[in-house]
Amino acid sequence: MNVDTMTDTARLTFEDKEIELPVVRGSEGEVALDISKLRGQSGLITLDKGFKNTGSTTSAITFLNGEEGILRYRGYAIEDLAENTSFMEVAYLLVYGDLPTQKRLDWFEDSIKMHTLVHENMKRFFDAFPLGAHPMGMLSAMSSTLSTFYPDSQDPNRSMEDIDMTIHRLIAKLPTLAAQCYKHNMGHPMVYPANDLSYTENFLYMMFGLPTDDYEIDPIINDAINKLLILHADHEQNCSTSTVRVVGSSQANLYSSISAGISALWGPLHGGANQAVIEMLEQIKADGGDLQKWIDKAKDKTDSFRLMGFGHRVYKNFDPRARIIKKSADEVLAKLGINDPVLDIAKQLEEVALKDEYFVQRGLYPNVDFYSGIIYRALGIPTEMFTVMFALGRLPGWIAQWKEMLENGEPIGRPRQVYTGHNARPVQPLAQR
Ligand code: ACO
Repeated sequence: MNVDTMTDTARLTFEDKEIELPVVRGSEGEVALDISKLRGQSGLITLDKGFKNTGSTTSAITFLNGEEGILRYRGYAIEDLAENTSFMEVAYLLVYGDLPTQKRLDWFEDSIKMHTLVHENMKRFFDAFPLGAHPMGMLSAMSSTLSTFYPDSQDPNRSMEDIDMTIHRLIAKLPTLAAQCYKHNMGHPMVYPANDLSYTENFLYMMFGLPTDDYEIDPIINDAINKLLILHADHEQNCSTSTVRVVGSSQANLYSSISAGISALWGPLHGGANQAVIEMLEQIKADGGDLQKWIDKAKDKTDSFRLMGFGHRVYKNFDPRARIIKKSADEVLAKLGINDPVLDIAKQLEEVALKDEYFVQRGLYPNVDFYSGIIYRALGIPTEMFTVMFALGRLPGWIAQWKEMLENGEPIGRPRQVYTGHNARPVQPLAQR
């Protein structure tokens, strides 16, 4: 096959047929072959398990270049945003396409603050969860449950203003539900939102405050949470985001689409890696800290162990978020006066792995989850809540992608397959099988 850049078509030769495929170009010079009509033209489909080389959509939200370690939301570099904006500004940027003016930010934040309470009846769902229930299971269920309290959200023909209301409700209520997941497992009473606080301050208050307490918010912790949420806010067509878009493409409501995204994020190969990393580092420490032993296990193809927090589908050089987080981990621990031996193990492990031929050859580098758990731990967030923190950060990205899918009028997501099962055969009577 060759790509003709002059005419912007590619020609595919198959058997005695030549098929012309349109070429689509992105604003950062990416080139894609549009194969949507290939089957009609030739009877052929494409096969790409795990979508390793398949663009599922065109999108104007996030650009990333895995080779050069570039990540931008709506054109702004992640480093710039992490340094100079708040999570609420980034949420607005992702959902509405541009950074807000002060007036627009006030409107957005005020609207979010109007909706932070969840219906009292939702407390009864929490009562039914067993003690120790994984917070991601609870959060996913409660996100979908929201749709039952707001039945209007289920109407696929709502106006954009109504959709905006659903978006604001969800951004407002997810931290309340996340904090309730934690309180449930602690056996503590729920703390109602305090709307004089900022988005992240309010979350910390609902998590760590008690109804009887004057909880003081540590600005170091609040800044760190802000930065972590910004770094996680979007990452183009990853597993959970693609899930949100595909579920949403059937015109399922936003709450349920996000619930599906939360479930997809939970897996240890995706967002659940932040919990898995800390558990792995703890295990290495408890085992005596023999790093080479664990590196060898990760390389051994007969052993299912993988170095959690290492490797990425698109970053084969470095993950820019991991660089920022590693620096932040040092700063936050120093500011809080914490000496965490697990951070030392993480650094040593990274050093050994980055010199190892196996990891170098395969482009396996620390990803966003490698150091984030260490910061969360320093901030007092329990391990099982790490992926919930990821979900809170990713929420505006999921919403922006769901909204874009809707605005673009994208068709229902429905891949094809190559069937490899039995050919047609008759059913034998039970007695003869
Ligand atoms: N430890 C050891 N070997 C690894 C690791 C790892 N963490 N990651 C990949 N490899 C090896 C694979 O065994 C494979 O080797 P081979 O070519 O000899 O068969 C090669 O590197 C390529 O790996 P794939 O699994 O094909 O890469 P893929 O893009 O499908 O998977 C993934 C990416 C899932 C992130 C993978 O690197 C992994 O499992 N990492 C650990 C879990 C993790 O940290 N996930 C978080 C990702 S970031 C996020 O989602 C927020």
